[in-house]
Amino acid sequence: MNVKENILKKIIRVDQAGELGAQQIYQGQKMIFKLQKNKKDFDQISKMAVDEKEHLDFFDNIAKEKKIRPTKLKGLFGLGAYAMGVGTALMGPKAAYVCTEAVEEIIEKHYQKQIDQLEGVDEELRKKLVKFRDDEVEHKNTAIDEGSREAFGYSILRKTINETTKAAIFLAERI
Ligand SMILES: [Fe+2]
Ligand SMILES: [Fe+2]
Repeated sequence: MNVKENILKKIIRVDQAGELGAQQIYQGQKMIFKLQKNKKDFDQISKMAVDEKEHLDFFDNIAKEKKIRPTKLKGLFGLGAYAMGVGTALMGPKAAYVCTEAVEEIIEKHYQKQIDQLEGVDEELRKKLVKFRDDEVEHKNTAIDEGSREAFGYSILRKTINETTKAAIFLAERI
């Protein structure tokens, strides 16, 4: 397998895993806000989840097309991300937005690294990632606007989720 194919394979696999995670986090949060009849935050999270669905569909399709298998940790990631969504939503809407802020700040850098890597390798994919990165930055800013930084235990929660996201990326790139 040539260098280009290897880069693409690694990028698509980890991004597919990440977008699945994003989808699951939001599903978990939506479930809680629905139960709590919190329409405002349910709607806000739903809006972001629509973008994540677009991202996930894109990677699912391209993975199928290029016959790239998903990470073997797919099931575990899905479950873990869902639990993270449920857990943060139960801590309150502001904590749920800390989750978004903390994940997206890592994903923003992650996509940026891939955008740089794809320079001169695959312009079409690069453009998609630029769009997705912009969506993630928008999610991060929405989360901050919604009061993530006023959440109880903000610093520790943010740091924990930053590190969890980094660990998930590390694993998905390798397994
Ligand atoms: Fe996304
Ligand atoms: Fe996002």
